[in-house]
Formats: sequence, C-alpha cells, structure tokens
Amino acid sequence: ATPTVTPTKRVLLAAPRGYCAGVDRAVVAVEKALETYGAPVYVRKEIVHNKHVVETLRERGAIFVNETDEVPQGARLVFSAHGVSPAVRDAAAARSLETIDATCPLVTKVHKEAVRFAADDYDILLIGHTGHEEVEGTAGEAPDHVQVVNSPDEVDQVVVRDPAKVVWISQTTLSVDETMETVRRLRERFPSLQDPPSDDICYATQNRQVAVKKLAPSCDVVIVVGSANSSNSVRLVEVALQAGARASYRVDRAAEIEDAWLENAATVGVTSGASVPEILVRDVIAHLGTHGFGEVEEVRTATEELMFSLPKELRSSLKAAG
Ligand code: F3S
Repeated sequence: ATPTVTPTKRVLLAAPRGYCAGVDRAVVAVEKALETYGAPVYVRKEIVHNKHVVETLRERGAIFVNETDEVPQGARLVFSAHGVSPAVRDAAAARSLETIDATCPLVTKVHKEAVRFAADDYDILLIGHTGHEEVEGTAGEAPDHVQVVNSPDEVDQVVVRDPAKVVWISQTTLSVDETMETVRRLRERFPSLQDPPSDDICYATQNRQVAVKKLAPSCDVVIVVGSANSSNSVRLVEVALQAGARASYRVDRAAEIEDAWLENAATVGVTSGASVPEILVRDVIAHLGTHGFGEVEEVRTATEELMFSLPKELRSSLKAAG
C-alpha cells in the first residue's frame, strides 16, 4: 500500500503587522503621562482601537471618557491617536484641561489638507466611515466643506456646488483597492476631481494590506488579530478574502479561535492590525502550535523604520522634570 503523506501544517506570518508608529507613540504617551503626573490621566475615547491595550492602561490608572465634559475642570486629558476636531479642542480649553495631543502625525496631515482646501473653498469629499472618530475629527476641521463618502456605492448621491472645484481626501486606515474604486467612480462624475497632495491612507495600512495579500492565496484560513472597532484590522479580513484566502476571521485574542476553522486546514495565515501588541500574535501562534501548526514561516513584504517623537506637551514636561 502507498503510505499517505500528511501535508505539513504551517503558519504563514505576515510582516509588517501590528503596531504602527502612530499607535506606538500614542500608547507610550499615556504610559509616560501616568509615570510623570501620576494617576488618574484622562483619555478621550480609546487611545487606540484595541481592547487589550485599553484594558491594560485602565489598570494602570487611565480613565477613558467619551467627551471632555466628563473630565474634571483643570485635569489632564490625552487626545487619542485618531485626532479631534477644533470643537473638541475648544471644549477642552473651556474646561481649562491640560491636554496632551496623541493624534497620529499622519492624521494631522490630513486635517491640514482639509483646512487648506476649505480655505480655497473646495467641496471636499472625505472617503471614510461615518461615525469613525478619525472621520469626525477630520470633517470637523471644515464642516461646511466636507462630505463623507463611505463606499463606491455612495458616489451617486454626492452633490457638489461646483464640479470644477472638488477634491478627495481619505481616512488613513481604508482598503486601498476599495478607495481607488471610489475615486474612480467619483472621477467619472467629476472629471476635474483633484487628488490629495500625498497618500492619505498611511504607510502602515498599506504595508499590512500588501503583506496579507501576498500570503492569502496560499492560505486555507487567515486569522487577523485586532478589535472589532479597529478599521484597519477589519479591512485586513476583507483584503485577505479578496486576495484568495479560503476563509478569514478577526479575533481579539487566541481564545476566540474556533477549532472548526482549523479543521482540514494545512496553511493558516496570521496578521494583526496597526493597534495590536505583538504579545497577542504570539498567543495566537502558540495556540496554533497546540493544534499541530508547528512550522512558522514569515512572509515579509516591507521593513518599517518610521518612529514619531512624543507629543510636544510631554516632551517639555519630561525635559522640565530632568
Ligand atoms: Fe497613524 Fe496610520 Fe497608525 S495613521 S496611527 S500610522 S495606522
């Protein structure tokens, strides 16, 4: 009889994955604020969209609030990586809050584009998800000029004042392919549509999508580590499926992986969103190991070296503290 050959069960691990420079900076900002000033330190919204990160910081003394009016007068408040509108800054100033701005510099860049195009009286089409904090912040820079376009299907509903003076900008964490489709349809309607001066979808979002695209076609299932409210994590599931993974699931942590997903699978892809600490990925790899996926091969499509300096309010206090 011919011996049956069991195919090796393996894991393909995407690189880059996990923390981007903006998330790293925002998390360190809260940690440093806690060390420097002591607890409590207030944080408006989730500092980054990851359950584990938020729970860990909460245990260390961070208090997460939805709005500035929940923060005691004069207390210290960190703005999350997703950015805030000028109205939120004003509300914080009115309560004399000591703010630390952990907005990712790549989000601030998009805010500046909105301000500039609004000053030139453009209709600004912000491609992004209604209700996402980043979109609220960016749109809030120029509420009279910005309209949000959620998807290619919404393009037909867009109404502008002057079709010759229209620009698109975007949320930083979208699917590159879907965004390009939205832009293509917008340009069909508005041939003189202007592009933003540089990519708004950030390097980290793009790199994570490129990496998952590379491994997805070889995978029976792709597991994306990330929280449900993390836009870039949710996009990674979609991108994996579009790129040919037979199945793809998002999990917050290893314990959420269902045995049924791994039945009959020979190759499992693993990646993680930009707000996900590596420890959660290591737990997933360990979990897969106990299910016979012992071989782990990294699939790297880029190397990232970008780092941002801490928010300026913290840099000056750290300096003063010696
Ligand atoms: Fe910034 Fe992109 Fe990360 S916008 S917070 S570098 S996902």
